[in-house]
Amino acid sequence: MESLLPPGFGLGGHIETTLRGISPGQLHAADFQGIVPNSDNDFILRTLILSMNGVGETIPNPAVGCIALKNDEIIGFGATEAYGGRHAERVAFGNLKDNGHSTENSAVYVTLEPCSHHGKQPPCCELFQNAGVSRVVVALGDPNPLVNGRGLRYLEAAGARVLLSHGQSAAAASAWHLPFLVQQTQNRPLIVGKWAQTLDGVVADSHHNSKWITGPEARAHGHWLRLKYDITAVGLGTLLADAPALTARDCWLPNSRQPHACVIDPLGHSIPSDKRFQDALAKLVAAADNRKVAVVCPREHVKELKGKLPAAVSLIGFPPPNEAGRIGEMLKSVWQQDETISWLGRMPQSVYIEGGSTLLSLMIEAEALDALHVFIAPKLLGGDAHRVGNGTHKSPQLSMAAHFDILSTSVLGGDMLLELVSKPIKESFFVRG
Ligand SMILES: NC(=O)c1ccc[n+]([C@@H]2O[C@H](COP(=O)([O-])OP(=O)(O)OC[C@H]3O[C@@H](n4cnc5c(N)ncnc54)[C@H](OP(=O)(O)O)[C@@H]3O)[C@@H](O)[C@H]2O)c1
Repeated sequence: MESLLPPGFGLGGHIETTLRGISPGQLHAADFQGIVPNSDNDFILRTLILSMNGVGETIPNPAVGCIALKNDEIIGFGATEAYGGRHAERVAFGNLKDNGHSTENSAVYVTLEPCSHHGKQPPCCELFQNAGVSRVVVALGDPNPLVNGRGLRYLEAAGARVLLSHGQSAAAASAWHLPFLVQQTQNRPLIVGKWAQTLDGVVADSHHNSKWITGPEARAHGHWLRLKYDITAVGLGTLLADAPALTARDCWLPNSRQPHACVIDPLGHSIPSDKRFQDALAKLVAAADNRKVAVVCPREHVKELKGKLPAAVSLIGFPPPNEAGRIGEMLKSVWQQDETISWLGRMPQSVYIEGGSTLLSLMIEAEALDALHVFIAPKLLGGDAHRVGNGTHKSPQLSMAAHFDILSTSVLGGDMLLELVSKPIKESFFVRG
């Protein structure tokens, strides 16, 4: 069976690029990260790799890539600038203007439908029209109600030939733009889980030690994903065991941004007088400038913590689950609550839940995870140590097992990365009629 994504691509874009990085000059090379442009689809993949330069910084806008070609030669390229800055199309055409190229009858590749409305930037379609672009290949339509086909129609009416991608290159663009697509179409953030495990599913040994299950390449890619997603979250158990910094440091484009950080305390068991708890929270705050930090816990527990945490740490309370409800369901909807929106200043676009196994199990049990990044080390540990799925519920029958669909498989150094999506996400964004 053909995989949904082209080899080497996943939810975090082109994996080799995150490990080796690229310089814009490489775009001119015939062999660009192994992708020789023989077709529109190949050019779309190169455009996607380019878009990765805008990772995280463009939130809540999508990180788009754009390449302009004339007579089969690349004459301009660009990625979306940090939020409020220029769109990828304008960056690409800004570059080429400096070079004095004529754009009449040029072709353009872009990862998302160009806008035709005035936002923080003037419309990209108008730019293409004025530049005399005669052919536009778009990887994905933009579901933003202000765009939603208007950009494609504008360009056609202006006389350009407009093509929408299909197959693996369109799926690769859906994977890259997934947080934006989910937010625009479902008015909620994408919620993804991530963990590193041995072949037998162990995520921490019996001494709570998880450093390190996987090797440096897998860890670098895990850090890259922190750049991509809006919020990185861990459970209280992980905060206390590991005191993580939750920053993106050992990866390509380190520190271009840092994710906001949340600690999830599902049962309200955090103790304000616990020095380990206080120190670990202070470390999250100090680890990155301009990041927001919050503890997410039951509303009742907010009262106990109020005024007793480091000043920069906010509290977000979720209501008690109703009789039939599960905590995992509360942890799914907490991101849309008014308190969360006022904490961040907007609804988060994506939440990257890094563990531990108890928190991930609660979320899986409540069908609250849209996608998974599972890093697998070729090791067997055995024993009854931590595993995702242990602890929060009794094993259901096999027929009732939580099920995800495989999106991509990749090898990172000596480890493997398996990426999966829930059925609703697959059907909404990866299956085309
Ligand atoms: N390999 C990886 O990718 C990875 C990633 C992250 C963490 N880890 C490792 O995982 C370990 C921590 O994992 P963890 O599972 O102990 O903690 P966790 O998932 O980080 O946090 C679990 C939270 O859920 C609470 N809880 C426990 N049982 C529950 C239930 N039945 N219903 C609702 N909430 C419940 C816990 O409360 P209590 O505190 O009261 O129990 C705790 O607040 C550490 O050793 C860490 O190194 C590994």
